[in-house]
Amino acid sequence: MSRLIVVSNRVNPPSSDGEESVGGLAMALAASLREYSGVWFGWSGKTVDTFTGELNIEEIGGVTAATIDLEEIDLEEYYNGYANKTLWPLFHYRNDLAAFDRAYDKGYMRVNRRFAETLAPLIRPDDLIWVHDYHLIPLARELRSLGVKNRIGFFLHIPWPAHQVMINLPRHRQLVEAMFDYDLVGFQTGEYQQAFEEYVISEAEGAVMRPGCLKGFGRILEVGAFPIGIDAADFARMVKSSRARRMRDLMTACTVFRHLIVGVDRLDYSKGLEERFLGFEQFLQRNPDLRREVLMLQIAPVSREAVEAYQEIRARLDSLSGRINGEFADVDWAPFRWVNRNYRRDELAGIYGAARVGLVTPLRDGMNLVAKEYVAAQNPDDPGVLILSRFAGAARQMRDALLVNPNSPEEVADALRRALAMEKPERIRRWGALFDNVQREDVVGWRDEFVGALSGKSVKMRPALVV
Ligand code: ADP
Ligand code: F6P
Repeated sequence: MSRLIVVSNRVNPPSSDGEESVGGLAMALAASLREYSGVWFGWSGKTVDTFTGELNIEEIGGVTAATIDLEEIDLEEYYNGYANKTLWPLFHYRNDLAAFDRAYDKGYMRVNRRFAETLAPLIRPDDLIWVHDYHLIPLARELRSLGVKNRIGFFLHIPWPAHQVMINLPRHRQLVEAMFDYDLVGFQTGEYQQAFEEYVISEAEGAVMRPGCLKGFGRILEVGAFPIGIDAADFARMVKSSRARRMRDLMTACTVFRHLIVGVDRLDYSKGLEERFLGFEQFLQRNPDLRREVLMLQIAPVSREAVEAYQEIRARLDSLSGRINGEFADVDWAPFRWVNRNYRRDELAGIYGAARVGLVTPLRDGMNLVAKEYVAAQNPDDPGVLILSRFAGAARQMRDALLVNPNSPEEVADALRRALAMEKPERIRRWGALFDNVQREDVVGWRDEFVGALSGKSVKMRPALVV
């Protein structure tokens, strides 16, 4: 079997069962590498005065991680700059927050070249190379210029924006043309794939030759939609763990006679937290009879703190959460809990399991794994209700959630009322359909479909697990 070389900006395999959560992408990639012997290559998260290209090799949780340190200026121009001040806001339809700066562009290209120069000597002739996310779009181009001829695939974890949004990016053609150096490019949903195809058709003399085969820039590229899932089997185990059970009991004890509403997100402006808070505030204003019956817990660890837009959203959310409690709290009770820290995955499973409502309302999201984790953690005999943004990639698969427009606090407030009033038979019916999808389209299926397509062997999705 070919080795799999996975490349992503961040390399953080979980080191043991249920330890601190490392995010959706990391969990998915660690699962892929345990199956195919291979290497996970990327940035160490550390900086040095002068770039050396020296590799740090570590075995973490059954995965070989090979990382490099970057310079402070790389961090500034590539990670904080082009990746998180230019591409992230633009791809999430926040052109108003996007910064266009040629220094960021240069830093992005420089780091992609550094990745390629360090990675190329590790590659063996029949390795498959799988590159992840918007930090590394031009990596295949750099590898090809160094003579790498292997099959190289790219998966975009975030949305691909509409054509009219994409063309706001200076030198957008160069960026997209570089994607034609991959053999296969994967998106989270058919909608993002279609937006990519529309761009190529309009801007690069493109045409869809047949489904999944795109011509553009005078070249041919395979494209496809590969919706990512969670590690459903592993999560099911975690839900039954003693830590998850303890956390569920603790949360149940702090919400006696009340229903828990939970949100879990990185503190990011794309997650719709402000609108969600306003929705909860409206719910409290409009439903005085229900005020004492709920507790909303929003867990949001800080993220990308060096970027101003993230500092600003944090300050606004701090103030809004204070306002909601100031307005509605009583001496013995407060409606809202705002927590900015990380939890272990088994603890999160326990928190989800205790919540009558999972509130997942990003303004835009490539997929959103929290929605799937919430569903996987529910008690089949008395499950909670998922309220999900129609603008999360997950909404394509999770039609039995209560789908809302996350821009409308009124819709969020209405959905909260409906979720809290929902009778058990309807909750069980909706949850059953959601859970079936979470199991069937899990991370193992995602990995096998992508790697199968990249290696030219198509793989059938696995049947649902029986729990
Ligand atoms: P994104 O990749 O944009 O952060 P996802 O919803 O796809 O969004 O994935 C987020 C992942 O990070 C999930 O696996 C979730 O469990 C994890 N996560 C989010 N917040 C926390 C937290 N406070 N503690 C631990 N893990 C978290
Ligand atoms: O899922 C999108 C993503 O940007 C991943 O690429 C990344 O690992 C995760 O969110 C967390 O972001 P960051 O690595 O910037 O902390």
